[in-house]
Amino acid sequence: MAAITPSSLLLHAGLLSLLLAAATATIGEGSTLRITHAYGPSSPFRPQKLSWADTLLDISSNDASRLQYLSSLAVSTRKAVAPVASGRQILQSSNYIVRAGLGNPPQAMLMALDTSNDAAWLPCPACAGCSSSSIIFNSGKSSSFSPILCGDVRCQQVPNPTCQGTRCFFNMTYGASSFQAALSRDTLHIAGDDFPGYAFGCLKRVRGSSLPPQGLLGLGRGPLSLLSQTHETYRSTFSYCLPGLRSGNFSGSLRLGPAAQPVNIKTTPLLSNPRRPTLYYVNMTGIRVGRRLAAIPPAALAFDPATGAGTVFDSGTMFTRLVAPAYAAVRDEFRRRVAAKNVSSLGGFDTCYEGPITAPTITFLFTGMNVTLPQENALIHSTAGNTVCLAMAAAPDNVNSVLNVIANMQQQNHRILFDVPNRRLGVARELCTV
Ligand SMILES: *[C@@H]1O[C@H](CO)[C@@H](O)[C@H](O)[C@H]1NC(C)=O
Ligand SMILES: *[C@@H]1O[C@H](CO)[C@@H](O)[C@H](O)[C@H]1NC(C)=O
Ligand SMILES: *[C@@H]1O[C@H](CO)[C@@H](O)[C@H](O)[C@H]1NC(C)=O
Ligand SMILES: *[C@@H]1O[C@H](CO)[C@@H](O)[C@H](O)[C@H]1NC(C)=O
Ligand SMILES: *[C@@H]1O[C@H](CO)[C@@H](O)[C@H](O)[C@H]1NC(C)=O
Repeated sequence: MAAITPSSLLLHAGLLSLLLAAATATIGEGSTLRITHAYGPSSPFRPQKLSWADTLLDISSNDASRLQYLSSLAVSTRKAVAPVASGRQILQSSNYIVRAGLGNPPQAMLMALDTSNDAAWLPCPACAGCSSSSIIFNSGKSSSFSPILCGDVRCQQVPNPTCQGTRCFFNMTYGASSFQAALSRDTLHIAGDDFPGYAFGCLKRVRGSSLPPQGLLGLGRGPLSLLSQTHETYRSTFSYCLPGLRSGNFSGSLRLGPAAQPVNIKTTPLLSNPRRPTLYYVNMTGIRVGRRLAAIPPAALAFDPATGAGTVFDSGTMFTRLVAPAYAAVRDEFRRRVAAKNVSSLGGFDTCYEGPITAPTITFLFTGMNVTLPQENALIHSTAGNTVCLAMAAAPDNVNSVLNVIANMQQQNHRILFDVPNRRLGVARELCTV
């Protein structure tokens, strides 16, 4: 596809017509889709006039409610708790967006990627409470749109299904918001392929302001996810390279299907939690700071399907969150290594320094795979001033959290392979930031 310049993308109308043109032609390149960051320069969802520090505060407060959400997913013995709303809510999470077409003729949609969700959902006409920046899917203009009825097996695969007449609806909590959607189907055009009868939620009623205004494409492992619904074609295999926050031009990529995946890639087994089939669990066995293994109590990393404890890879959390004892061990070792400097805090980060530091490398150890983070994945630098922070945090206090979340800043500029049939997750360095 032709390059789209950031300046044209900033104009919403221009954006729409460009995207519509793109949708009626082919979308993506083969089975590859381009990815951009929701806060990136080419994104229409970029917050205006936010300083670097404010943006960080925003993202890390969004992360706090996402952690609450992930924990509610992970802890299967309790009903999902209503999450604590965060003060600032621009975008809940789902920091990366792709282009997809829906309907006949295809309508261009920008959808947030979410590896910790299954069903897709989109703003539809007459949605009460949808964001004013939403791009609405006009179901009335699609000749292939139809509702899914209560008797359909898919009506049993959505959370909290209800029937209104014969039509299937479902309710879901997402971050600090909740919504009701009509389960519907239409042709999904993605990466040059067509999937007729793709099931998704048409948003009807939204409470709270934290849903991604783009709508969402669930890449989880459960029923109704993109993987499940395109299994015949893509074999539950995909990989992505997430570009950095400041990169533009949809420079990241989402590759669908086994064909185009890297062969020489370090991998670790994917673990399944039968009660939470959506999440991508792996076995993190330790974290090295420099040459030293951080003194993390083994229980802080152990996988336990009964409690939901363990480590997941997530595309929608910005900064890696570790359970408190694990984070404390990493932070203490990191601070020891960056000796003789004053430590300060900024937003959700408690290990910040003024001026350049010589930082130790951080290595995540997984079963069969060690991943050493390049400095740009481990440290976040201020654009103005000299502040530099360790870009990780402890899970927020208000979350009774047992989950360690490897978040997207730590994944940026790496190819992350999700190979469900072979039960493995791979990581390889790849520069996709333009
Ligand atoms: C779903 O949400 C709607 C509107 O917010 C509400 O009226 C209804 O009671 C909810 N149903 C369930 C099963 O939670
Ligand atoms: C986006 O692409 C255009 C043309 O390819 C290039 O001129 C521009 O510098 C790029 N912008 C960013 C932010 O990468
Ligand atoms: C995770 O790795 C540890 C250390 O090698 C091992 O003892 C444990 O059994 C592994 N857990 C799973 C679920 O594979
Ligand atoms: C560290 O902070 C203290 C108190 O703010 C200050 O007096 C001291 O000069 C600082 N030291 C360095 C090395 O910056
Ligand atoms: C990962 O690092 C640990 C500790 O430094 C080492 O014992 C282990 O052999 C390494 N594993 C791999 C797969 O390289």
